[in-house]
Amino acid sequence: MDPMLDFTGKVALITGAASGFGRGLAAELGKRGARLVLGDINMEALDKLVADLEADGVDALARRCDVSSEDDCKAMVDTAMERFGRLDLAANNAGIAHGFIGVEDLTEEVLDQQMNVNVKGVMFGMKYQIPAMRQSGGGAILNTSSMAGIGGGPKIGAYAASKHAVIGLTRTAAVESGRKNIRVNAICPYYTRTPMLEGGEGLASGGEADKTLAMMAAGSPMKRIGEPEEIVAVMMMLLSPANSFMNGQAIAVDGGVSAF
Ligand SMILES: NC(=O)c1ccc[n+]([C@@H]2O[C@H](COP(=O)([O-])OP(=O)(O)OC[C@H]3O[C@@H](n4cnc5c(N)ncnc54)[C@H](O)[C@@H]3O)[C@@H](O)[C@H]2O)c1
Repeated sequence: MDPMLDFTGKVALITGAASGFGRGLAAELGKRGARLVLGDINMEALDKLVADLEADGVDALARRCDVSSEDDCKAMVDTAMERFGRLDLAANNAGIAHGFIGVEDLTEEVLDQQMNVNVKGVMFGMKYQIPAMRQSGGGAILNTSSMAGIGGGPKIGAYAASKHAVIGLTRTAAVESGRKNIRVNAICPYYTRTPMLEGGEGLASGGEADKTLAMMAAGSPMKRIGEPEEIVAVMMMLLSPANSFMNGQAIAVDGGVSAF
């Protein structure tokens, strides 16, 4: 196997693994030899994913994990250590968005929901992943932020606040843990065609869906939104054992939006 994408024997934990980027990342890592501890709140979809992975010969297990719960985040790491005896890779990827709403109409409830999942999930995740990786001799953590973590997110202000916080936590953990051979980076995708966009309650669902998708596409120099596999490809590069000196970065995958 190409050593740049050889994950043989690595133990990888992924949250939000039942759908979208997390699901794609699980499949690609599994294909390349990683052993997987997968968490989500959607157990039906997660169990189905694990059954499919096992059918392909991947060593994977599913665990219910609500990332807003510190106990659940700890249990994910405990599971990896008990089952496999080590933790090499972690993708703190679970996240939620909220409906389009201006800053002047945001509510405390919406902000709390965003912070509870998007920020606590990353913080509680790293809190337990870092000691386990230290014990394993090092590792790599990938946190899923967003283009709304780098710049303003029009009409998604609470989401943007939470994704900025993800980058703050990422940089801090990177600086703290670099000497322990633990790299911590964030990925910042532009709008991408996953259930978060096109699902039943997705950002681009309902009667105005076509108009919303067209506006999202128009906002990018490439005049289209992303496809999930384009984001997963960069997630793989960020976690690659060959990518051994990138630390503390927030990488935009955005069709050129950040180049404006
Ligand atoms: N799709 C996009 O346009 C886009 C752009 C930038 C960033 N992101 C980020 O990418 C990440 C993955 O999103 P996606 O697009 O694959 O969406 P998705 O909705 O397809 O997948 C998200 C997964 O997270 C799970 N989840 C939700 N709340 C959870 C919780 N409390 N605990 C554990 N799991 C939970 C869901 O069940 C789902 O399986 C998110 O952090 C999202 O904010 C998405």
